[in-house]
Amino acid sequence: MISKIHSYKVIPSTNRIAFELAEAGASHGEIVCAGSQTEGRGRLGKRWLSPSGKGLYFSIIVRPDLPKEDYAKITMTTGLAMAEVLEELCGAAVQLKWPNDIMLSERKCGGILCEASLDSEISERRFAIIGIGLNVLTEKDDFPEELQASATSLFIETGKYFSLDEVRNRIVEQVLRVLSTLEQEGFSPILRQWASRDFLEGKWLQWLTHGGEVILARAEGPDEDGRLLVRDKDGKLHQVLSGDVTLAGKHQKKGAVRDEHGSSSTPDPH
Ligand code: BTN
Repeated sequence: MISKIHSYKVIPSTNRIAFELAEAGASHGEIVCAGSQTEGRGRLGKRWLSPSGKGLYFSIIVRPDLPKEDYAKITMTTGLAMAEVLEELCGAAVQLKWPNDIMLSERKCGGILCEASLDSEISERRFAIIGIGLNVLTEKDDFPEELQASATSLFIETGKYFSLDEVRNRIVEQVLRVLSTLEQEGFSPILRQWASRDFLEGKWLQWLTHGGEVILARAEGPDEDGRLLVRDKDGKLHQVLSGDVTLAGKHQKKGAVRDEHGSSSTPDPH
């Protein structure tokens, strides 16, 4: 259940405000939402464009009953919950691109940015912020030109005008429900459902390792810890914890690293 809604017209980032509220003691299920954000953040330091009236920008404060090492699974858990809601609303298949992208018709319509505070030895003081950005009423021309081929919205896919509040409430309820499943039944049932919507499965990727090496490998899906398994051309299996995996483009030179959605200084796809 949503316990409290902190609603703002414009703020820098709902994740930032939610983090501050959680540090001050806000409870599980409180949400922070904004009409628009001036400093919306995406993964890997990217920006998240947040135009007013077009999309959802909100963060859920959660204090799950989970060991610290399981917090990393919250992103995929949230992705599954979003896919289930969007499938019902749009009547279309939703795919999940590891680790945090929500895809409709092979294009990104939403993303998840989870941030956690896990330092306290007192488990009640630990929390995670689940930041969600979703393109709902965005039209093609609302996206910057460089994102028009890779981004989409619920409106573009269905031609329907959705109520932002209703979509948000349904997502929050489902995220909290699937999070309870994670607490009570573990990750396996979530992973099974997630894997049936895996956008990357079987695709060739470029993976930039922490050592700065670029590896060309085929995605074999996430493992029980939520790490992506990839097999390189010599048959060696690698675990990718986080960071940069990009689809290997057909015309890409071997060894060249390209972020399919632009570099860190450009906005993330919406
Ligand atoms: C991504 O795909 O990189 C994740 C994008 C997450 C964006 C949302 S919008 C609401 C919340 N506040 C932020 O600053 N970011 C998240």
